[in-house]
Amino acid sequence: MEKQEIRTFGRRHGKKLSARKQWLMDNMLGRLAPTAECKTNAILEIGFGAGEHLRALALANPDAVVIGAEPFANGVAALLGAITDGQNNLMPEYKNIRIWPDDVRDFLRTTDSKFSQIWILHPDPWPKARHEKRRLLQAEFLQMLARRLAPDGEIIIGTDHWGYFEWIKERATQAGLFFETPDLEIINTRYQAKNMAQTEMPKYIIIRNK
Ligand SMILES: C[S@@+](CC[C@H](N)C(=O)[O-])C[C@H]1O[C@@H](n2cnc3c(N)ncnc32)[C@H](O)[C@@H]1O
Repeated sequence: MEKQEIRTFGRRHGKKLSARKQWLMDNMLGRLAPTAECKTNAILEIGFGAGEHLRALALANPDAVVIGAEPFANGVAALLGAITDGQNNLMPEYKNIRIWPDDVRDFLRTTDSKFSQIWILHPDPWPKARHEKRRLLQAEFLQMLARRLAPDGEIIIGTDHWGYFEWIKERATQAGLFFETPDLEIINTRYQAKNMAQTEMPKYIIIRNK
């Protein structure tokens, strides 16, 4: 029997969706599934939450397909609400967004896309020692992502949990990956604004294949 993969995310569902968001989940989400056209010039954001940063990526990279993976249905619904207008039509400036509403590891198994950027902002830190195995950024997973980078592509990771930051650096070293820890300007996201870890600022790691 195949070994079951450890679940790296918390909830799949939160409070009941509004009628509009439920309609978008039922009628719009399927139209935004990643397809073969995403093979070239693609950007991936893993765990996009409510999608604020994913939308900024889509606006800043109109020629790229921007794919977001997020298993939390309310986050996916929030993104759908924000990229559609009052008539529930997709706004033209967001036509390059594609959504995988589930575990990114399943998505990566279905595609052979190469990404110019892979973003992971505030991966769940699972701060209790007994939950460490639920952290997404294990050495094996980082290696899997690095294999999916286009030449000159980069994996950009940000976390305000400084313990997880050190842990990720250790995993990247174990995985034999090249990385830097630049002082980037703070990238604002919903989770970052909560500052759950109560640190001064997020820290960033950039992994490249060189
Ligand atoms: C702490 S939240 C951060 C959300 C957002 N990036 C932000 O900064 O506001 C982490 C997100 O990662 C998602 N996540 C966890 N494991 C995942 C996986 N295997 N694939 C895709 N998303 C995942 C969770 O559902 C959650 O929404």
